[in-house]
Amino acid sequence: MSLRDRRVQYETAGLERNDLDNNPLVQWQRWYDQAAEASVAEPNAMTLSTIGIDGGPDSRIVLARGVDESGFAFYTNYDSAKSKQLVEHAHASAVFGWLDLHRQVRVRGIVTRLSDRVSDEYFASRPRESQLGAWASPQSQPISGREELLTRLAEAEQRFMGRDVERPPHWGGWVLAPHEIEFWQGRPSRLHDRFRYVLQADTSWFIERLAP
Ligand SMILES: Cc1cc2nc3c(=O)[nH]c(=O)nc-3n(C[C@H](O)[C@H](O)[C@H](O)COP(=O)(O)O)c2cc1C
Repeated sequence: MSLRDRRVQYETAGLERNDLDNNPLVQWQRWYDQAAEASVAEPNAMTLSTIGIDGGPDSRIVLARGVDESGFAFYTNYDSAKSKQLVEHAHASAVFGWLDLHRQVRVRGIVTRLSDRVSDEYFASRPRESQLGAWASPQSQPISGREELLTRLAEAEQRFMGRDVERPPHWGGWVLAPHEIEFWQGRPSRLHDRFRYVLQADTSWFIERLAP
């Protein structure tokens, strides 16, 4: 079937204002739990968009590793393209696409670096091979070939043989603190439900329905 003719009818119960928690992070957790329950692949995957050094947008998937009142935490290489962009422009957005449930959540906010203590704790919880991989990969840099990565991995294995792997200084977390979050639920005839939460005076959330 051509892409032009591919259409899915969204037969879902829909979303009403009364269904929504007043706190969008609680509402996000509810939908995340339902996505995990429905065995959606990688339900904590979000497409993170940043502002490139050239002023254009740039997007990639990262995994949310903690979601609470402070926002959406993710971990990466601090020398990567995304991290360099975030140092220049703290504004970012993220999208969770739970397509099996015909749901999307959009987040806009400001990204700040997590503390070394929080990054240390998370790094310590990672599998050893992921910890070594963080030392081995100069993320977003051109490399000569896969052998270069394997050589760097072998060097890291040698360096940390018989002891815990320390967190590399170039690796750690960021948190996206939201000021807007939109929940989208697919409905029949393309009359989808959309609700947007907007943070007001840094304290309370204003909720409004948007046309699909
Ligand atoms: C499912 C999935 C999950 C990913 N999770 C992460 C992640 O948590 N952290 C990360 O740095 N890269 C992650 N990546 C890789 C990024 O999409 C990206 O390739 C990498 O971070 C380099 O991006 P940058 O050059 O824009 O900095 C993930 C990719 C996929 C497809």
